[in-house]
Amino acid sequence: MSPSPSFSADAAQPLSPPPLATSSLDKIRIRGGKSLNGEITISGAKNAALKLMSAALLTGESLYLENAPNALRDIASQSDLLEYLGCAVKREGRLMALNASTVDNFTAPYDLVRKMRTSILVLGPLLARFGQARVSLPGGCAIGTRPVDLHLKGLAELGAEISIEEGYINATAPQGGLQGATIRFPKVSVGATENLMMAATLAKGTTILQNAAREPEINDLGECLIKMGAKISGLGTDTITIEGVPHLSGARHEIVADRIEAGTYIIAAAMTGGTLNLKNARLDHLTSALGHLSQAGIEVQQNMDGVLVHRNGHRLKGVDIMTEPYPGFPTDLQAQFMAMLCTAEGAGMVTETIFENRFMHVPELARMGADITVQGHSAIVRGVETLKGAEVMATDLRASVALVLAGLVAEGTTTVNRIYHLERGYEDITGKLSACGAEIERVGGE
Ligand code: EPZ
Repeated sequence: MSPSPSFSADAAQPLSPPPLATSSLDKIRIRGGKSLNGEITISGAKNAALKLMSAALLTGESLYLENAPNALRDIASQSDLLEYLGCAVKREGRLMALNASTVDNFTAPYDLVRKMRTSILVLGPLLARFGQARVSLPGGCAIGTRPVDLHLKGLAELGAEISIEEGYINATAPQGGLQGATIRFPKVSVGATENLMMAATLAKGTTILQNAAREPEINDLGECLIKMGAKISGLGTDTITIEGVPHLSGARHEIVADRIEAGTYIIAAAMTGGTLNLKNARLDHLTSALGHLSQAGIEVQQNMDGVLVHRNGHRLKGVDIMTEPYPGFPTDLQAQFMAMLCTAEGAGMVTETIFENRFMHVPELARMGADITVQGHSAIVRGVETLKGAEVMATDLRASVALVLAGLVAEGTTTVNRIYHLERGYEDITGKLSACGAEIERVGGE
């Protein structure tokens, strides 16, 4: 198998916008008040793609990922990390090809890991295939401390020897490789479930993951691993069973549509009014959010090729939400939903149970005239008639997009600074929104 994967002709698909060379000072300027009408194509899910890329480390054969959100900054960071390890990565249009036959470096360095915490997801695959890995501890981030103890405890239960030295996790597999085990997570974790599921595919014997996370992105990863030859059952439930196999092979897999991007644009249409067709979006991955959206007064329908969202002239109503692991209300849509509540009729309470510091958008929304009171993990949002455009600062990915949504309905001009965060997870957001009638543009920072 060639170490440099090639693209086959049948994989030719429309080109995505090229990765952006944004300065961290670049801004987005929005003149609010336009309703959104038209079609937006939902990209492949960032949070599936990043893990699927790590899964390529489990085999010496080529892995082809279709519907890859290649223009995202996080995808570029993950490519940098994999290439640093010696894995070949090619991104072209919507296709990504990875080949880890020449991996000869088992260290994920601080400079690459600090940019993106998901780098911890190379730990399980490296350990399983090569018996060793050295990964920088990720450290905290804007939304919370985000420890990785569940990843490390789980890998130790598979027999890995793990020590922390000078800010690095040093992990080695026992002679003869990782051994299957029954692991009960004390807390539901998306990343720990994925890391352990990947590691267990090449372990000896059976691994049972109890209290596993059930996010659609985990199913997507599991389905790709099965195509690679892994034996996995129980995907989509809280108990996942993996029978280890001696080796995995290459595969071709289409990445699931990004439910958070879809949810964000559903909320955009709800806020601005109008009708949007969200191509490739899947409502079955948004059930909890949909219940709340329909209580707020938004009509959403699955159609042949995506989701149709429509709001007639009525003002939206305040609704309470509480974030929970899937299938509960997603923490990654909390900030956007809060932006929507800002101009709804009446009040809504937003309770965040996943991350301890995920209300960074509140002071910025308040600068636009929102009436929000935070008490501990809850925020009461009292709807106001209108938001007012202002200069605001993006702090993390979802907080940033919440400010864009607020800007779409605010009176006057909103300038969102530090759009770097947005480009981690939203492909061509200005292009997608302006094609549907929004007055939105990116401008260089001074
Ligand atoms: C994933 O993060 C997503 N990231 C996040 O998306 C998402 O918010 C989160 O899952 C929850 O849905 C990716 O998929 C790349 P967790 P992850 O492990 O895996 C605690 C976005 O905006 N915990 O499920 O890191 C942790 O601190 C983002 O796209 C431990 O205590 O989340 C948190 O409170 C940001 N110990 C909770 O569990 C551990 O070892 C859930 O975290 C691991 C996690």
